[in-house]
Amino acid sequence: MLARGTLIQNRYEVVQLIGKGGMGAVYEAIDRRLNCTVALKQTLVTEEKLFKAFEHEAQMLANLRHPALTRVSDHFVDSSGQFLVMDFIPGKDLETLLEERGQPFPVDQVLHWSDQILDALDYLHTQPVPIIHRDIKPQNLKLTPRGEVILLDFGLAKGSASPRSRVTSGGSIFGYTPKYAPLEQIQGMGTGPQSDLYALAATLYRLLTNTSPADALSRAASVLNEQPDPLCPAHEVNPQVPPAVSKVLMSAMALGSEGRPTSAASMRQMFQETRSRPASPPPADDQVLKPTVVVPAPGAVALPRSENVPPPEPARKRFSYTPPYTGETVVSPAIPPSIPPATHIPPMPAPPAAVPPRVAPQPATSPRPKRKRYRQNQWCAWVVIGCGVSIGLAIGLFLLFLVIVGSLAA
Ligand SMILES: Nc1ncnc2c1ncn2[C@@H]1O[C@H](COP(=O)(O)OP(=O)(O)O)[C@@H](O)[C@H]1O
Ligand SMILES: [Mg+2]
Repeated sequence: MLARGTLIQNRYEVVQLIGKGGMGAVYEAIDRRLNCTVALKQTLVTEEKLFKAFEHEAQMLANLRHPALTRVSDHFVDSSGQFLVMDFIPGKDLETLLEERGQPFPVDQVLHWSDQILDALDYLHTQPVPIIHRDIKPQNLKLTPRGEVILLDFGLAKGSASPRSRVTSGGSIFGYTPKYAPLEQIQGMGTGPQSDLYALAATLYRLLTNTSPADALSRAASVLNEQPDPLCPAHEVNPQVPPAVSKVLMSAMALGSEGRPTSAASMRQMFQETRSRPASPPPADDQVLKPTVVVPAPGAVALPRSENVPPPEPARKRFSYTPPYTGETVVSPAIPPSIPPATHIPPMPAPPAAVPPRVAPQPATSPRPKRKRYRQNQWCAWVVIGCGVSIGLAIGLFLLFLVIVGSLAA
């Protein structure tokens, strides 16, 4: 680790460490020549391929110009390692902000960020040689004090036809973050623009629900076992998320890339349409189902989430997969042999439309409150007493009448 005040290249003075990864670190530094703050990304790897990959990241970024991307101003190697000098982006990354907040971000805010990132992805994906970021996740998105979101960390990016490209089909270095990576990337089956759309949708899902989305391998294993998709639609996790937004996320997180939006521009368009669409009118009064408590009968068995799912056959070979970790980038292939390639995974069923909770009618003979029952009993007692007194009086009068008639006759 570089100490505060360390001078690199007789130009960059280290101020503090701002990020640390497996392969190096990122420092805030002062560029003494231009008298401005910069970010110094250092890598300590000596392995040829990783060394070249870092150089590749520098050269790729140096040629890009977009408000949501960092500009690279220098790249060099010295005794402390290999360095990349970038614009310093103030602020925190979205994962840190989410953890500090402890609850989902407002939908409008997330859609605003998503619009900025999709514009950046459209720019990257439409370069003469398309650039695929391949590691979009909340940790790699920084929010500036002005509310701009910046996409960082092109360490895994693919986008050059040159032999320097870090990811090649044979003997290549794989890298991905399990919760955010699409199946084709985890399996090393090749990535394209739609791989970034999957990772972005998974990122937005996390920001909108404050929960991590189910990872692609676990989902693929469920599909193969004819089990429901463990990815719960975002609007079911957080009712503030409009079902239309949830639908775009589910489509971008389709296991097979052919089920996803065709481009960043079309995904952007899909989100914009969800904003312009008027809210669906409230259901008519007679269609509103009143909630009730359903008490299970003794010995009742819980149903699976979807009743259409057949019960698992005991004899069937079951696939299972436990992802290694959620947030960190994995730089080694971890492809379970039991999962077939993404192209063989059947598409997930469309997310269910927003259905109000299914309810049963209120029971007709609901128990009366105690106080009411007490009053009723009291009223009955008075009636009985009244009747008794009336009958007694009638009998008395009748006897008196007989006595008078008897005495007159005598
Ligand atoms: N240009 C920058 N300006 C400010 N902070 C940065 C910059 N680049 C990276 N960081 C910080 O350093 C952390 C790690 O950087 P990143 O490029 O993601 O490297 P890693 O490969 O270790 O994940 C980021 O999460 C971010 O907080
Ligand atoms: Mg990173």
